[in-house]
Amino acid sequence: MKIAVYPGSFDPFTIGHLDVLKNAAGLFDSVYVAVLNNSAKSPVFSVEERVEMIDRMIESEGFQNVRAGSFAGLLVDYAKQIGAQYIIRGLRAITDFEYEFQIDAVNRHLNPEIRTVYFMANPAHSFLSSSNVREIGEMGGSIEGLVPHCNYDYLRERLARQK
Ligand code: PNS
Repeated sequence: MKIAVYPGSFDPFTIGHLDVLKNAAGLFDSVYVAVLNNSAKSPVFSVEERVEMIDRMIESEGFQNVRAGSFAGLLVDYAKQIGAQYIIRGLRAITDFEYEFQIDAVNRHLNPEIRTVYFMANPAHSFLSSSNVREIGEMGGSIEGLVPHCNYDYLRERLARQK
């Protein structure tokens, strides 16, 4: 059984993340979307809110082999705990590569048995990031089409209140 973990801050989960997840769900038997629980990153959305939005997206997309959760501490420890042999990450641009290269080097050092699989972002989403979504939403712009449709109303209202 091939199990993968798709980790991230997901603050919030975007349509770009969904694109990566669809690829992963088609390739692996089971995928865990894992929200990093790290208050040092000062996220806008609580871990509970982020997991709730991802759960809603899983339900709405009809994924049968995807689950949402959160983790604190090292990713490789969480991967081991859930039996994942693979880590999923998305790449949008060369700048992502530098960052991902470092994360991969650290994870390989910590556990060489866990491999990372990368999916190139759909070019239509190459500009998209969670921070863009937050900024657009907080400034009253439209985030329609940037986040999973099922979370659109919630995020629009929540980000409008945030500013
Ligand atoms: O969405 P992000 O913020 O780019 O995701 C980064 C993430 C969660 C993959 C990374 O920060 C992480 O794995 N953090 C957990 C701590 C850890 O394992 N550190 C060692 C690898 S950098």
